[in-house]
Amino acid sequence: MSQLRLNIGAVALCAIWLMAAAAHAAGDERMVAGEGGYGGPYGIGHTAGPADIAAWNIDIDAKGNGLPQGAGTATQGDAIYRMRCQVCHGADLEGVKQTGGEPLVGGRGTLTGANPVKTVESYWPLATTLYDYINRAMPFDKPGSLQPEEIYSVVAFILAKAGIIAADQEMNAQSLPRVRMPNRDGFFPDDRPDVFDYN
Ligand code: HEC
Repeated sequence: MSQLRLNIGAVALCAIWLMAAAAHAAGDERMVAGEGGYGGPYGIGHTAGPADIAAWNIDIDAKGNGLPQGAGTATQGDAIYRMRCQVCHGADLEGVKQTGGEPLVGGRGTLTGANPVKTVESYWPLATTLYDYINRAMPFDKPGSLQPEEIYSVVAFILAKAGIIAADQEMNAQSLPRVRMPNRDGFFPDDRPDVFDYN
């Protein structure tokens, strides 16, 4: 009797598995046939068009490729910083520990000492990263909410406060990649050979 029960159970399991496999196959078919992309069994999403891709394709490289039109100065950036950044990064860009907002200036020359202070001023090798990072990640509570002019302005403000550019120097797609950061030569390619020892 218990043997029979077992067999019935096995047959039932097998049937469930077959049904699941069939549903999976049908789902795949619908996925391929789905209108405009991920039709699939859920009917959500669409094929990524140029506008979708452009919205994600926002990286800016070391040479400044990807920087948009627009310009800004430290004076304009001062006002934006006070409204959008100061609460977390402090009135003097010294950081506000309770918020997690890091210091943005200072620490120059400390990197090889016992207490390295890593900031934009002391650590970052490229000025273009500042645009990229603020554009994609700041303000922390509302990333993506700043316009190019505002970002260029606040970048100019931080660089001027760090003593890297003059207070009246305009930042734009041409001038920003030419800014030389204090730690520009602190990074070098790691020329040790790759070792594949995870067999
Ligand atoms: C709500 C708090 C908050 C606000 C507002 C904010 N930040 Fe930040 N910021 C942070 C935090 C938290 C981090 C660290 C994020 C991390 O490490 O992932 C950070 C990191 C940064 C860094 C990188 C620092 C480093 O050395 O790694 C920069 C640059 C920066 N913020 C700029 C800005 C600018 C410019 C604004 C205004 C437009 C702004 N932030 C507004 C909280 C904030």
